[in-house]
Amino acid sequence: MSTLDELRERALAAIADAHDLDALDQVRVTFTGKRSELAGVQATMRDLDAEGRKALGQQLNAFRAAFQDAFDARQRALGEAALAARLESERLDLTLPPRRLPPGRPHLLTQVEEEMLAVFIGMGFRVAEGPEAESGAYNFDLLNIEPDHPARQEMDTIYVDGYEDVVLRTHTSPVQARVMTTQAPPIAVVVPGRTYRADAVDATHSPVFSQIEGLYVDEHVTMADLRGTLLAFARALFGSDRDIRLRPSFFPFTEPSAEVDVSFHGPGGHHGWLEILGAGMVDPNVLEMCGIDPERYSGFAFGIGIERVAMLRHGVRDIRELFEADARFLARF
Ligand code: PHE
Repeated sequence: MSTLDELRERALAAIADAHDLDALDQVRVTFTGKRSELAGVQATMRDLDAEGRKALGQQLNAFRAAFQDAFDARQRALGEAALAARLESERLDLTLPPRRLPPGRPHLLTQVEEEMLAVFIGMGFRVAEGPEAESGAYNFDLLNIEPDHPARQEMDTIYVDGYEDVVLRTHTSPVQARVMTTQAPPIAVVVPGRTYRADAVDATHSPVFSQIEGLYVDEHVTMADLRGTLLAFARALFGSDRDIRLRPSFFPFTEPSAEVDVSFHGPGGHHGWLEILGAGMVDPNVLEMCGIDPERYSGFAFGIGIERVAMLRHGVRDIRELFEADARFLARF
C-alpha cells in the first residue's frame, strides 16, 4: 500500500515536471511500462490470497485512474501550449502597410477620347468605327473630293504599297460615307480613330494622330443644331463659362463649312479664341452619292483632333509627348 502511495506521489510529480509531449510520454513508459515499478507491484499479486488480491487490485486501479487523469490533463495543457507557441511564431502583422504597386491607367489620349465620346453619347450619339486602311472611294470620292482636287495634295496622303487605291485614311470622314451608305436616317454617330498624313514631325504635327468625327442626319437639321451641339460639347469639356465662334471655312464635303473656336480667359484679363475643330452642313451632293435624299434630309458633320484637345486641356506644349511613352510625363495624368 505505502509503496503505491509513494509511487503515485513520484509519478504525479514527474507528470507535472514533463515540459513537452516527448518527456510526458517518457514518464508514461517509466511509471506504467512493462519493466516499471508498477509492473513489479502487479507481479506480487500472485503471492497474495483472494482478499489481498482484491484489495491490491483496487489500489492498482485507483493508481491507474489517478495517473491517467494527471497524464491527460498534462497532455492537454502541453498540446495547447505548443499550439499557442506555433500560432505566436506564425503571427501575421496585419497592421503592416502593403507594398504599393503604382496602378496603371489609360493613356492621356485615351482618357480625353473617352471624355469626349461620353459627352456626345450623353446627347444621343452612337459610336461607329471604320478601317484605317481605306479605299480612295470612301476617303475621297464619296466625300466630294475629286481626284485632282487640291485637298488630296494638301492632306499629304500616305498610299498603301502594292494596292491600287488604298490609303491610310487622312481623316475619320470616310466613316461618314460608310454609315450613310448602310444606314437610313435618323443617323447620329461619333467615330473615334487613328488618322494618317505624311507630315514631318514637329511640336504640333505627327504623321499619326486621332480624330473624332461626328455626323447627324435627319429631317430639318440646321446650322443651329450644329452650333448648339458644339457649344454644349465645348462647355462640357472646357467649362460652362466658354463660348464658341464659327468662322467661314471650306471642306469639299460640307457646305457651308466652318472652323470652330472656343473662347478662353487667360491670366491678367487676357482672352482669346482657340481653334478646336472643323465642321459644316453635309454637302447635298455627298448625301446624294451616299444614297440619302437631299430634298428630304439634311445633316451636319464635324471632325475634332483628339491630340489638340488633349494639349489644350492639359497644357501639353509638344505633341510628341503624347507618343513618346515617357513614364514621368504619363504619370502626370
Ligand atoms: N475631315 C476634316 C479634317 O480632317 C474635318 C471635318 C470633318 C470638317 C467633318 C468638316 C466636317 O480636317
